[in-house]
Amino acid sequence: MADTPTIFRGTFVHSTKEEDMAIRNDMVIGVRRGKIIFIEHETRLPDLISEYCVPGVNVRHLEKWQFLIPGLVDTHIHAPQYAFAGSNMDLQLYDWLKTYTYPTEAKFKDLTYAMDVYTKVVDRTLKNGTTTACYYATLHRDATNLLLQVIEKAGQRAFVGKVNMDCCSPSYYQETTQESLEETKKFVESTISKKNPLVTPIVTPRAFGTTSEKLLASLGRLSQQYQLPVQTHVLETRGDVSTQTFDRLHAWDKAGLLKHNTVLAHCVYMSDVQLDLVRQRGSGIAHCPNSNITLRSGFLDVRNVLEKGCKIGLGTDVSGGYSRSVLAALRFASQVSNTIAIQREERGENYKMLSYKELFRLATLGGSEVMGLDETTGNFQVGKDFDAIVVDPVVENSPFDVFPNDTFSDVIQKFLFLGDDRNMIDVFVAGARVSGR
Ligand code: GUN
Ligand code: FE
Repeated sequence: MADTPTIFRGTFVHSTKEEDMAIRNDMVIGVRRGKIIFIEHETRLPDLISEYCVPGVNVRHLEKWQFLIPGLVDTHIHAPQYAFAGSNMDLQLYDWLKTYTYPTEAKFKDLTYAMDVYTKVVDRTLKNGTTTACYYATLHRDATNLLLQVIEKAGQRAFVGKVNMDCCSPSYYQETTQESLEETKKFVESTISKKNPLVTPIVTPRAFGTTSEKLLASLGRLSQQYQLPVQTHVLETRGDVSTQTFDRLHAWDKAGLLKHNTVLAHCVYMSDVQLDLVRQRGSGIAHCPNSNITLRSGFLDVRNVLEKGCKIGLGTDVSGGYSRSVLAALRFASQVSNTIAIQREERGENYKMLSYKELFRLATLGGSEVMGLDETTGNFQVGKDFDAIVVDPVVENSPFDVFPNDTFSDVIQKFLFLGDDRNMIDVFVAGARVSGR
């Protein structure tokens, strides 16, 4: 019966506004039409069953050690670059773009090729628990529409951007200003007309350096007109510091592109004054540590970003980052934070590295805040959509071991640092099972 809720009984782990990680044992969560309708202690189960549904129907009792977590949020991923994820890791950003990335993305005018890569990236990210992904596609509107279709069929929650780039890239992979705007408008309008609450078009001027002033102004108007989110790359390398000055950020602001739903990837070299403007505008930061290390770009000081009060989540940045897993991004974020702590200690300074609880928050609620989705998803709250993963730490072939003396908190940490898709036995987006074993 469509209106009979599904009830999950057991432990769930999530972040709240107050707590980076809260563990709730012996709970029941009711889900109806994709939304969480109750969260109660399990002693209330008989009452809830008689109140909401036919007795005994649809109660999923989680087994020993199993627990629920909110779906993982990837705030920055390039779907076409999945084609070469795990290879081409010998160059730094601008050479890497010229040598591998632009030539690969240019191939997406071939829709058969695009279909193959896009099907695989969406399937792979869902398997790894990415219930929300913020995608860059390519310059091609047709192929970007294809990505959207694949996502809709798979049931992922996603932001999808047709990339805009009208300067400073090779002539074989560049659009005119007018073409860029017109194609983006068409993409935006056709996506909105689908009225799918899970997919949102996102305005995607690729980077500060690859969009003309004229295009920026037009994209700013477009994003205001349809109240669209915006994403770009900012201050990713040390070299960007001399070109991406405060004035440049200000120009973006003037164009109306720094908003509460703007996602700024990297921001490794952002000054405190710039961070202040980002916080004032309510824009969010996509921290992509796997990419920042692999392309040897630098270390983002997440502690400083948090202290400045900016919203921040994790991005895989496939394929500057080679791993499509948000759990892997969490581990890289931990290593980057520890590396900064080592550097500071060498200078005789104190530095508070990120805790596993803070890292968990970045991967879930933090990401949803960056995407402007924290009223919809990101943790377990009555009225929110049920985007969730059932984690089984003792699944056959689990990549880690649980010992009799382990506490629940030990096992959660083991999952965060050693777990993978084998432990994610069910993945749900808005109540629908979209992946699992
Ligand atoms: N800057 C401009 N384009 C890109 C990209 O595709 N990846 C990364 N990491 N940085 C960029
Ligand atoms: Fe990127």
